[in-house]
Amino acid sequence: MTPPPLSLAELPTLDLSDPALWQDIHRPLAAAREQSTVVATRDGLPTVLRHAEVEAVLKDPRFVAADLFAMSGITSGPVWEWWQRVMFSQDPPAHTRIRSLVSRAFTPRAVEARRPAIRARADEILLPALEGGALDAQGDLGHRLPLMVVSDLLGVPDEDREVFGEWTKTLGLAFLSIADVQVRALVAEALASLDAYVGGLIADRRRRPGDDMLSRLIEAEEEGDRLSPEELVALVENLLFAGHDTTRGALAAMVVLFAEHPDQYRLVVDDPSLVPGAVEEVIRHEAITFGTARLASTDCEVGGVAVPAGTPVSLCLTSACRDPRRYPDPDRFDVRRDDARSPAFGAGIHYCLGAALAKAELEEALSVLVERAPTLDLPGEARWVPFASIRCFEPPVEVVLGTPG
Ligand code: HEM
Repeated sequence: MTPPPLSLAELPTLDLSDPALWQDIHRPLAAAREQSTVVATRDGLPTVLRHAEVEAVLKDPRFVAADLFAMSGITSGPVWEWWQRVMFSQDPPAHTRIRSLVSRAFTPRAVEARRPAIRARADEILLPALEGGALDAQGDLGHRLPLMVVSDLLGVPDEDREVFGEWTKTLGLAFLSIADVQVRALVAEALASLDAYVGGLIADRRRRPGDDMLSRLIEAEEEGDRLSPEELVALVENLLFAGHDTTRGALAAMVVLFAEHPDQYRLVVDDPSLVPGAVEEVIRHEAITFGTARLASTDCEVGGVAVPAGTPVSLCLTSACRDPRRYPDPDRFDVRRDDARSPAFGAGIHYCLGAALAKAELEEALSVLVERAPTLDLPGEARWVPFASIRCFEPPVEVVLGTPG
């Protein structure tokens, strides 16, 4: 006989409030995952840890977009309004409409066409670093490459890139401390600047369409339907915001992982055809987006736990990507792993729109490194810290790049 579902009150607690735990977050996650499919965080949020159940919730239409801001008691103001407009916050049919209008600009084919430009940007960052013999994995490669790539996509001129990057970085703070009034004021200010800038960019591209994604988004039309000017601004801001800290973390993690695993780096140096599989494994092994959330729209059951309608549920992607039920020997970093596909980019209708683009950035950066640096060395320690729901390194991590011969 199947046991009756557990109630939320019966869940074991997972307390990750000690920053020291984040240095090797996989350890407490593994212990909790073996104990239970679903745990409760310190503030009582049910959190799904196992691969099958995380994917099932993400693909289940009964679980709808969760209002992260409302969960922190914020239900009005410019930051809240902005969050309502981004794609993560929308459910069908509004989400389906926007997604079908924009997805053609992000198909693997559209991304392939950008590869030479991405490679040129990776060269621009990495060739001087190779010359100098060292790389700041996060502050230089991680920060600059995604910003350059997305700016090129949208046609942001080089001289505007950094200030534009500052505004999008400030948007990320919204998730660090949503409830902090000062932070919210900063975020609102950055949003206003970004709104004005993006609005100007769109107006310019309407007058002079070019060969960039923004022009394609302006033209994007399906069955007579188009993006409204407000939707277009929100979408561009969504791309900037969603594509920066995530890709920055993944690029930095990639360089650090290879420096920590010289045998795996050697394999890719000797056989660059391993690059795409190696990138897939990097993305799985250090799933940089710790988690996301959904709201149960009706009474549901997840992993033997009763989840009443109206309950927000957190999905821990970092844990799902190391679940031994799905990945043999999950803690091993193995560039030749058979099937490293993972929910690190989410699953279901909100699956990362920029996944192909992010992978292309990692692949091009790794290709430059394996072609020119026979070894990578980590002279110090790389310290992981939580940053909102995206992990990153602090302080900066310097990696020594070997020279051929
Ligand atoms: C390694 C880098 C990246 C990671 C790990 C990542 C991760 C994710 C995840 C987990 C989701 C799903 C969130 C959810 O279901 O709640 C997502 C959605 C999204 N991502 Fe990414 N992302 C990355 C890079 C990018 C890039 C480069 C862009 C665009 C330039 C981008 C744009 C988006 C957008 C627009 C969504 C929302 C899609 C929707 O709601 O339908 N991401 N991403």
